[in-house]
Amino acid sequence: MKLNAVEKFLMNNPIRSFVQRKKEAVMFEKLGGKTVGQKVLEIGCGRGVGTEIIIERFGAAEVHAVDLDPEMVELARKRLAAYPAEKLGLSVGDAEAIDAPDHSYDAVFDFGIIHHIPLWQNSVAEVARVLKPGGRFYFEEVTQRALDRWFYRTFLEHPKENRFSGEQFIAELEKNGIEVGKNSAYWLFDDLIIGVGRKTPFFLQVGGIRGA
Ligand SMILES: C[S@@+](CC[C@H](N)C(=O)[O-])C[C@H]1O[C@@H](n2cnc3c(N)ncnc32)[C@H](O)[C@@H]1O
Repeated sequence: MKLNAVEKFLMNNPIRSFVQRKKEAVMFEKLGGKTVGQKVLEIGCGRGVGTEIIIERFGAAEVHAVDLDPEMVELARKRLAAYPAEKLGLSVGDAEAIDAPDHSYDAVFDFGIIHHIPLWQNSVAEVARVLKPGGRFYFEEVTQRALDRWFYRTFLEHPKENRFSGEQFIAELEKNGIEVGKNSAYWLFDDLIIGVGRKTPFFLQVGGIRGA
């Protein structure tokens, strides 16, 4: 679902980009390393700060970034206008139905979007589908614990049901062949979970002997 006006203000804000650059990107790099020369997808790119980080800090060769909200995609387009088309593809798109063939990307980034999706399990399945075997999923997510807080309930809009804890999110990733293991951390009194998972190589998934 799209953001309400309050959350748009909170997201399209220098404080949000500061947190993305100085905290989330640092943790992502520590847990998953860079993506130099790789083809990367960002789901829910918002105004494009994450996309810029993926290109500049992580060194991706090509980034496709999508957001459900055309207004956000337009903001990202303005921010990222200097990048050539062969480096950056921006479009309106749904993380529940990613417009890409199976095994298209070396990495997928999620800067806090999946908690906005009512049937969020669909987007986890889609991320797993479009990742190449061995590809990495960088995620920062807002847990049910945060969404239950007064501020979130009063001022922000999120799906009312089917919310997830950090453990449930990771369990769903692992069910879809994205191994996280101990490669994640809680942050802000467990309100946020941040981590990097790796898509199980295809032959292991088919054989049903994950981790062997
Ligand atoms: C909390 S904002 C985060 C934006 C940006 N990633 C950031 O960190 O600043 C969540 C974003 O996800 C987008 N979004 C929500 N549901 C989506 C979906 N199903 N597919 C793609 N984007 C979605 C929203 O429009 C919004 O821009």
